[in-house]
Amino acid sequence: MSNQTQNSTALPIRNVCVIGAGTMGGGISAHLANLGFDVTLLDARLDIALAGLERARQARPPAFYMPDRAAEVRVGDTEENLQWAAEADWVCEAIYENLDAKKALFARLDPVLRPDAMVSTNTSGLQIQMLAEGRSPEFRRKFLGTHFFNPPRYLKLLELIPTAETDPSIVRAMGEFLEDFCGRRVVMAKDTPGFIANRYGMWAMFKAIHVAERLHLTVEQVDAITGVFLGRPRSGSFRLADIVGIDVMRDIAANLIERCSDDPFVETLRQPSSMVNLLARGWIGDKTGQGYYRKEGSELLALDLQTFAYRQRREPDIPSVAAQQYLPLAERVSGSLDLRDEAGEFLREYLLPALRYANYLKDKISYSVEDFDNVMRWGFGWELGPFALIDAIGSDRVGIESKPFYKGNTLLGFDGKYHKLRSPEKYAPLSDYPIIETGAYLTLRDLGEGVTSVGLASKMGIIGPELMEELAATLEGKVQDRFVLTSEARSFSAGFDLKYFANRIQVGDYAGIERGLEALQGLAALLSSRKCVAAVFGHVLGAGLELALGCPRMVAAAESQIGFPESRVGLLPGGGGTTQMRLYNQHSAKRLAEVVLNLGLGTISQGADHARSLGFLRATDDTCNHPDRLIHDAKKLVLSLEEMTAPEWRVIEGPLVGIIDREIESARASGAMTDYDAVISDKIKLIFAKSANAEVALTRERAEFIDLCSKSLTQARIRHMLEHGKPLRN
Ligand code: NAI
Repeated sequence: MSNQTQNSTALPIRNVCVIGAGTMGGGISAHLANLGFDVTLLDARLDIALAGLERARQARPPAFYMPDRAAEVRVGDTEENLQWAAEADWVCEAIYENLDAKKALFARLDPVLRPDAMVSTNTSGLQIQMLAEGRSPEFRRKFLGTHFFNPPRYLKLLELIPTAETDPSIVRAMGEFLEDFCGRRVVMAKDTPGFIANRYGMWAMFKAIHVAERLHLTVEQVDAITGVFLGRPRSGSFRLADIVGIDVMRDIAANLIERCSDDPFVETLRQPSSMVNLLARGWIGDKTGQGYYRKEGSELLALDLQTFAYRQRREPDIPSVAAQQYLPLAERVSGSLDLRDEAGEFLREYLLPALRYANYLKDKISYSVEDFDNVMRWGFGWELGPFALIDAIGSDRVGIESKPFYKGNTLLGFDGKYHKLRSPEKYAPLSDYPIIETGAYLTLRDLGEGVTSVGLASKMGIIGPELMEELAATLEGKVQDRFVLTSEARSFSAGFDLKYFANRIQVGDYAGIERGLEALQGLAALLSSRKCVAAVFGHVLGAGLELALGCPRMVAAAESQIGFPESRVGLLPGGGGTTQMRLYNQHSAKRLAEVVLNLGLGTISQGADHARSLGFLRATDDTCNHPDRLIHDAKKLVLSLEEMTAPEWRVIEGPLVGIIDREIESARASGAMTDYDAVISDKIKLIFAKSANAEVALTRERAEFIDLCSKSLTQARIRHMLEHGKPLRN
């Protein structure tokens, strides 16, 4: 496990036993194996456990960082191998949602567990207290709910549910462990049916469907109103129902209706007629290929709620939604409540009751409205949770009596007093840090303790001559001390501005291209002499990767897509990237041959671990497995950075050219590489094999880059990419 929080009082857990190899058990096992834990996965029968692991290995989106990690998960069954639970530091139960089955399993586990081991349940609806009944005091003292969300690799929310008997110090330590070592954002929830996410989130989904049916809106209209427009994911309400599964919604709702008879709003969880209809037909969402939408090839058809037939998707066509979409969220939502059209009517009937319901539930199910809001932010992707929305709209308008829930950096507690908000620095996003200076292409921020962030501020972190000039001036002037190179954009960097090269090629300005490459190489060299760390995420491509590798160390977000895709536009990395790849992979000729292939094919990694296996990350670079801690980890790393020595160019023993030639030849024979990909690969091979030192290699990569620019096949690839956004395989 890399770069995790030191000085943590979190539990020393290394070995985890997950019981139940279904959707959740498989996903949790994969996630924990990704993070470096020793994982055992048990099911009632060995064949079911093996099949469960195989499903996780093949899951889409991938559950494992690298599919071969699955082989590291030990698989067994609860009849023969229950004693393996005795080796575990944490047993995480994820079997069927059935009280008796879970209780029977815990009764068997109780005498087996080590006294210092943790034990938890992943139930989504059963009462934790009831699951603990009949167990030994030792078991009850440490037993709690760890409610993961599906899929665990991608959804960071975890509801932590202690019982009245769980030792508070264990609850704290477990919460810290899940945050520091399992990439979770933890919210404590009360032990009530469905906890926070399912109790409220499910209700909000049902409410949207009921209102849509009553107002005769189309599924597209509702998804447009309840999606991005409300500061929520594009999936809105109906797409989300398909993703969650109509059957899962039915089961959760049925459990809530049964257990929450004193809740005056519970009737909303009765099935809307469209759900009854879908369930009767077995059209339960994505897992059956159809629900409120149906996938047909690459097309998504929409269900007509009146005729119950699928039809072409229609543009939602609600002018007010289109007109207001660029206003800030708070303004947009409060303004849209006054609209005299479908959107206004829908929001008055859906949003206001949903906010009132949150207000009704708040102290019954959560410990604070901030926790409540965080569940909706982290579990459902809402930009603003219900209480922040109430503040934005005004409690009068919502129809409740309350002071503002948030005031400055304080929060209204259930005691009616304002309390300081907990905002742990370790999760502060870049945008929370004070700006020192806003340039045309860079933003400088004060990260504290003498560390500055230098953030690329162009769209997608695209790099062009002006940005490079500003960066060089910044590094030579304003930023002298330790700094983090990162991006203010949604991705670290999508690479060099391709239009710039296209324009230079068109006017035959090859000297201009050479100057651009020299500047890029110079920047990487400048960075390498400084105490800096690159904090990368999203796309980390081409020139962006060259700058990042220029920094002595890198911290890469686990889900980063990293690579040198230059060959896709008929080029090779010419801003130092080819030389960097040679220097950081020179420990073996075989490795260098693999790297030539990856460069020749323009491979982009699926995640940081994959990037490491492809040679794009160095052994000394860190992976940040927590989705919200990149800046914190990078700052910590840069503060600890010592003098780094640059790697020295090593002469490769053995027949490097021959080894690479064979790789290229077989890639070409299999059709993976086109002839022109092979031409590019050949150039990379010669830079790798025939340069006496890094200086020579840098000169050569510029020269080969320019040579490729003059080729018509390269020019065709560039044109195609600019016109169609897709590579041309010529
Ligand atoms: P699932 O039905 O996909 O898998 C359950 C697995 O448990 C099966 O492989 C079954 O063979 C095994 N099993 C049943 N009884 C067993 C026993 N006595 N000993 C050993 N293995 C046994 O269920 P899923 O969806 O993975 O749910 C598991 C738990 O997680 C449930 O409590 C569910 O409420 C909860 N949950 C489910 C979520 C989801 O999205 N599917 C989300 C969050 C929690």
